[in-house]
Amino acid sequence: MRLKDKVALITGAGQGIGAAGARVFAREGARVVVADLNAEIGERCVADIRAAGGEALFAQCDFTDEAAVERTVARTVEAYGGLDILYNNVGGSTPQDNAVTDLPMEEFWSAIKRDLLTTFLACRFGIRAMQKAGRGGSVINTSSFVAVIGTLGCDAYTAAKGGVNAITRSMALEYAPDKIRVNAIAPGAVQTDRMARFLASNPNHLKFSERNRHRRPEVRSHLVGLVEVEDIAAMALFLASDDSRRVTGTIQVIDSGASAT
Ligand SMILES: NC(=O)c1ccc[n+]([C@@H]2O[C@H](COP(=O)([O-])OP(=O)(O)OC[C@H]3O[C@@H](n4cnc5c(N)ncnc54)[C@H](O)[C@@H]3O)[C@@H](O)[C@H]2O)c1
Repeated sequence: MRLKDKVALITGAGQGIGAAGARVFAREGARVVVADLNAEIGERCVADIRAAGGEALFAQCDFTDEAAVERTVARTVEAYGGLDILYNNVGGSTPQDNAVTDLPMEEFWSAIKRDLLTTFLACRFGIRAMQKAGRGGSVINTSSFVAVIGTLGCDAYTAAKGGVNAITRSMALEYAPDKIRVNAIAPGAVQTDRMARFLASNPNHLKFSERNRHRRPEVRSHLVGLVEVEDIAAMALFLASDDSRRVTGTIQVIDSGASAT
């Protein structure tokens, strides 16, 4: 019960990495707000947690919508009496992404909104709630290994995740006096349904990979196997718990060695 008495808000927790984090946080005793755009999968995640004996509620929210994010944080505080852990997980790459010279401009803005704005807004209201309660907290942002090494064919996503890394460090400085720690997890390729579809349908990614074997960011560069959602949840649990009380301003890369190749 490493998160006993803690309240966690997880964004994009209906499926994939966020849902795995929600299950682990609840198993460790946290009361979890599962927030997602998609009510069907969000409610299902809450039902799974309750069936396993955990405590959770679903909040429908579009994390690109400032007013909706403010309401979701307020609802979390109202329902569970505070906010200790904010896990910003919403985001993702798309097959439309490409090199700077080739990608559609709308894809650039959509990546900035999906990955950077969602993180920024949840921090804006989540950290205010933590400051108000005065009991510190842990913010966990979600980056990607593509923002740690140079990769090919996904420059909008890389730019957005690079922004996530940068504000993770600056927020660590900004909110240390409030005992709020801010870290990010940078996963490699994680075995989710979305990743399977992406690898199958991203011709640019594959084309660039063929031309640049030594820089290939996908499957074969993962030295000890593709990452699993539980690997990311284990790091999120460490960052959420007091075990990491002296860890802030870090980017935790979990990429099966891909950034070392
Ligand atoms: N899967 C990977 O291989 C991988 C690798 C590196 C980084 N990441 C990052 O990990 C995070 C989660 O990835 P995933 O593969 O589990 O994603 P996913 O697409 O499986 O799940 C994302 C969830 O977020 C929700 N969502 C999307 N936009 C939203 C919005 N505006 N407001 C609220 N909810 C929204 C979706 O409904 C979905 O449930 C992302 O930030 C992604 O960039 C994933």
